[in-house]
Amino acid sequence: MNAQEAAKRKAAEAALAYVEPGEVLGVGTGSTVNHFIDLLVERKLAQDIPGAVSSSNATTQRLKKAGIRVLDLNQTGTLPLYVDGADEANAHLQLIKGGGGALTREKIIAAASRKFVCIVDESKLVGVLGRFPLPVEVIPMARSYIGRELTRLGGHPVLRDGFVTDNGNLILDVHHLDIVDPVRLENEINGLAGVVCVGLFARRPADVLIVGSSSGTRVIK
Ligand code: 5RP
Repeated sequence: MNAQEAAKRKAAEAALAYVEPGEVLGVGTGSTVNHFIDLLVERKLAQDIPGAVSSSNATTQRLKKAGIRVLDLNQTGTLPLYVDGADEANAHLQLIKGGGGALTREKIIAAASRKFVCIVDESKLVGVLGRFPLPVEVIPMARSYIGRELTRLGGHPVLRDGFVTDNGNLILDVHHLDIVDPVRLENEINGLAGVVCVGLFARRPADVLIVGSSSGTRVIK
């Protein structure tokens, strides 16, 4: 395992402390979350949870393989805990997410959870969000229109080649954004007709950020 994977695994391991036996979990998407799912099994916590709400088809498959029941958010009600990774995080726990294309379901679960624990390796921590291209999920017929609007906002949108989301939509990855006011930009992009979801998690940031590194973990609240 390389150093970055080891740091992701450390962050995932620290998140196990938030898991309560008997409580349903929300589970995100990505390589850091995959460590978390593996650790739930290795540490024998998987058997103590009634099930999990999944943020993507990929996570659903991994949860099922791990023997964890996948539940419908419409049946569970508010979730006590959501664990997910991120592509970038700032000191206010605002995030860019969606590198894996699962941003819409991730944002729904984050919104429906009381506590959002975000797990990242230290390379994801930034001063200003936007070095990582901002993913925007769009309805296919609105692709060009939204592309022009995102250019007007100062970005350089690039269609994610050959990618269709779990919801049947497209992703525009917006480069060269200097996101100094994440809440404002999130509202502005959300307001464009045809946008399904923007990967800025600023209005609902994480509650706890666990940052893994070679020397251990740091928790930011
Ligand atoms: C998926 C996401 C992931 O959380 C994000 O891409 C981080 O992934 P990884 O843990 O593999 O670095 O938002 O849509």
